[in-house]
Parts: sequence; structure tokens; C-alpha cells
Amino acid sequence: MSFTQAHLLGIEHLHPSEITALLDLADQYVDLGRGQHKHSDALQGLTQVNMFFENSTRTQASFELAGKRLGADVMNMAMQASSIKKGETLIDTAMTLNAMHPDLLVVRHPHSGAVDLLAQKVNCAVLNAGDGRHEHPTQALLDALTIRRAKGRLHRLSIAICGDIAHSRVARSNIMLLGKMENRVRLIGPPTLMPSQINEFGCEVFEDMREGLKDVDVVMMLRLQKERMDGGFIPSEREYYHRYGLDAEKLSYAKPDAIVMHPGPMNRGVEIDGDIADDINRSVIQEQVEMGVAVRMAAMDLLARNRRSRPKGVMV
Ligand code: NCD
Repeated sequence: MSFTQAHLLGIEHLHPSEITALLDLADQYVDLGRGQHKHSDALQGLTQVNMFFENSTRTQASFELAGKRLGADVMNMAMQASSIKKGETLIDTAMTLNAMHPDLLVVRHPHSGAVDLLAQKVNCAVLNAGDGRHEHPTQALLDALTIRRAKGRLHRLSIAICGDIAHSRVARSNIMLLGKMENRVRLIGPPTLMPSQINEFGCEVFEDMREGLKDVDVVMMLRLQKERMDGGFIPSEREYYHRYGLDAEKLSYAKPDAIVMHPGPMNRGVEIDGDIADDINRSVIQEQVEMGVAVRMAAMDLLARNRRSRPKGVMV
């Protein structure tokens, strides 16, 4: 089965073979990005609009670069300055944009479910660039590509996701993707930072870093999402670093060739020691950024192909 989606709203909707197809294409785009001539014409003549209702550095830049490398006309809507601030609803803004006939709409929004809602209202392919605590599918896909290239496979690996799971859309999308590809996922963090539906995830849960990291292949650290906390989740950042911050001593419990990941932005000295983050023998954080561009190129290319092969106006 190849990639059949009309939108990329979440990992939840993807079949394992679609994930593999997308990562295979992304591998080709990694090669393109490393060459002298970085362009392809896969999105030639198409219009890509980026609507970021939340701050973003790397995700927005990555989507913009991905679209430009594929030849699309890319427009960044400055949502802070837009009519939303004047009281226009999300749907009104979307309908206004829709009238300009974009082909691809990349949306980040602070509310879980907002991107799904928008996809029902517009007549173009919608990509979720992160919605509240819900999903961040391109992040999970770029993490998967990074793991597959570093470990040579994306199945039967033991992967620890550590820290602020409760507030993290990155964790949710990764748990789903890694589970679909038949890996063992462990969640490590204080009970206050575990989601209430933790038992539905089918993961092993640990409160102790050393116990949870024992013999894992991959250590995925998460940022403490302070902007989503309304107080009382951790005693202090110092105490949090002491118990959950990834340093050389805690990492020594993982396999000797375990890789270290972080989606960024990092709080050095809070969830991760700066020396570990910069250790080129262990950390693949820079590779994650590189894979991000390639994965977003692959996702937009596949959605554009599906759009061309569908009768106009039919978006399912
Ligand atoms: C993540 C996000 O925005 O969800 N970052 C990202 O996309 N690079 C994780 C985070 O903000 O901590």
C-alpha cells in the first residue's frame, strides 16, 4: 500500500506501510539536500501557506525551506498580526485563505483538534504542524527517520521517552508511530508529568530514570513545557535536573551505542546536560533538524501527488 492520505493530521490515521513509504521518499530528499543543487519541481506552480498561531522557530523554517526546495510559492501568514487578533474566528480566517486557492496549508495551533476542524472546512491539503497537546506528526516522522538511519531499522528497538509527557504532542505522536512499527516504548518521568490516560498507551512506565533507561537503544528527551503548566508540577528546576535531567551518569544505564534525541528547543541544565546534547558520538539532535526538512518535503510531495490524482473539490 502506498500513501493514500488527503491530509497529514496525525500519526493516528497512518498505516505502517504509509509511514515506510514516506520515510523512503524522505531518504531521497536527504540526498538532494546534501547535494549542490537542492531543488526539485515536485510542487512547481503550487501555493503553500504556513499559518502558525503559536511561536515556532525550527518547524516553521523547516516547512518553509521544504516548500521552497520543491518549487512551491510559499507564504508565511503573520498570525500574531492577523485578523484573529481583531476577533475573527479560526474558520473565517481559513475561509478567507481558502478563497486564494492554496494547495497546501501548514497549521500550528494552541488548541488540540483545531487543525482537524480546519481541514474539514478548506479545499486543500492540510498538514498539522502541532496542535495543543494532541499531535505533531512531522516531528514523529523526522524522529523515526533519524532512528532508522542511526540504527539501521525501525522495529524491535527499545525507546525511552523522558520528561514532560503530559504536555507533549511530540510524545503522543511518537508513542503512536513507534508502537505501530512494533517497538517497545518506555515512558519515564514524575507522576505529575504523566498523562491521566497513561494506561491506554500500552507503554511501560517508570518513575526512576536509571531503571527506565536500562539497556534502551534510544533516549528521547522532552522539553519541560512551562507555558502549558499552571504551577505545581515540579518542586524546582534544580530538583528536576537532579532526578530527570539526562547527564553522562544516567545515560550510562542505556546501551553503550544508545542515541540521544531532543525535538528542541532545549532547556540546557533542566532536562539535558549541555555536554550530552553536544556530544557528536551520542547526540543526533542536529540530524533531527536535517531530517525535518527531508520529511516535510516528502509529506508535501505525497499529499500534492494525491491531490493531483483526485477529482477537484473532493477532499476526504
Ligand atoms: C516541539 C513542539 O513545538 O511541540 N518543538 C518542535 O516542534 N520543534 C516541542 C517543544 O516545543 O518542546
